[in-house]
Amino acid sequence: MYLINLINNSRFDIKKSKTATFFSPSKFENVLSFHKSINMNETPLIHMPALANKLGLKNLIIKDESSRYELNAFKVLGASYAMNRQVSSNPDIEVFCTATDGNHGRAVARIAKKMNRKAIIFVPRKTVKGRVNLIKDEGAKVVVVDGNYDFAVKQAASYVEKQNEDYNKRYYCLVQDKSSSGYEKIPIDIMMGYWTQIYEITNQIDSFTVDVVILQSGVGSWAASVVDYIINNWKNTPVFISVEPNSANCLFESIKKGYNVSVENEKFTSMAGLDCESLSKISWLILKNSLNSCISISDDLTEKAMKLLYNPITSDPVVVSGESGASSLGALIGLIESPKYKTFINKYIADSTVLLINTEGATDIVSYKRIVNT
Ligand SMILES: Cc1ncc(COP(=O)(O)O)c(C=O)c1O
Repeated sequence: MYLINLINNSRFDIKKSKTATFFSPSKFENVLSFHKSINMNETPLIHMPALANKLGLKNLIIKDESSRYELNAFKVLGASYAMNRQVSSNPDIEVFCTATDGNHGRAVARIAKKMNRKAIIFVPRKTVKGRVNLIKDEGAKVVVVDGNYDFAVKQAASYVEKQNEDYNKRYYCLVQDKSSSGYEKIPIDIMMGYWTQIYEITNQIDSFTVDVVILQSGVGSWAASVVDYIINNWKNTPVFISVEPNSANCLFESIKKGYNVSVENEKFTSMAGLDCESLSKISWLILKNSLNSCISISDDLTEKAMKLLYNPITSDPVVVSGESGASSLGALIGLIESPKYKTFINKYIADSTVLLINTEGATDIVSYKRIVNT
C-alpha cells in the first residue's frame, strides 16, 4: 500500500527566494563553455502524450538523464565543473575525496581518472554492492563507513583535513555537493555545473509553458540549482514541488517546521540518491521560500513509476529510470490516485504542463531488473 504525504509551504515567497540565488549570465557562460570543452553530451527531452492523457494533464515532459556522459545520471555536470575549477586554482591536487550515496561519487571518480588524479570515495553503510562496484570500476578507492550519509560526509571532510595537515599542503580536495558553514565554494560550483541541464531543457521545451516542476531532493543542491536558474531566466515561474523518500524527508520536515532540521534515517530506501538526513545549507536558503509544497513517498510508488516508464502505454517512448530518477513520477501518480489530494490536484496539476526530470537511469542494475522484471 503506497504511503504519500503532502505539505504546503506556508513561507512560499518567490521574491524572497530570489535574494538567496546566485545565478549570473557570466558565471553561466563559464559553465557552458567548460562543458563544451569536455564534450558533455546533451540529453533528450521526451514527451509522454498518452501518459499525460491518462493522468489528466495537458502535457507531461521528461528530461531523460539516463544517457548523461555514460554515467547514467546528471551528477557529472556538477562534479566536472567544480573539480576543474579546483585544479585550475591548485594544480597540486593529487586526490579528490567525497561522500556519496552513489551517483556523485561515481562522477567524482570518473572525472578524477580523466584528470590523472586519484579518488577516495566514502559511502554510507547502507550502500548496495552494485553501486560500490561501479565506483570501484572507475579506479577509485571506496571506504564504507559505519554510519549514514551525514556520517560519511563528516568522515570524508576530516580525512581530507588530516591528510592536508600531515603534508602541510593541499594535495587532497573535498568535492562535496553539500554545503555547510565555512564550506560553500565547492558546493556552489557543483550547483552551477547543474545549470547546463536546465539550460538544455529551456531550449528543448520550445514554446511550451511549464506549469509545474517536481524535483527530487537529497541534500537539495540539485533542486535549488534548477530553481535558481528558472526564477532568474524564465518568464513564467512554475509551481515547484519537492519529492523525497518517507524515510529521509529532511526537506519536508524543514518546510513543516520552518527551519533546517535533520531527520533520523535508519531505514533503507531504494531511492539511494535521496537518502540524506539533512539539507545543504545553501539549498535550504533557496528552497525554503521557492517551494510551493513538499511530498514524501514510499519506495513502492517510485517502483510503480519505474515499471510504467519501462512499459509505457500505447505510443509513449520507453524511459529507463532508476529509483531516484522515477520518484517525481511516483509522486505525481501517488497524488493523482489519492482521493485526499483531489483539491490540490484540481488547483495545481489537472490540465497543466508538468516537467519531470529523470535524474538517473538504471544505476543499480540488479535492483532495476528485479523491479521492472526483465
Ligand atoms: C539520481 C539522483 N537524483 C536526485 C538526487 C538529489 O540531488 P541532491 O542531493 O543535490 O538533492 C541525487 C543525489 O545524489 C541523485 O543521485
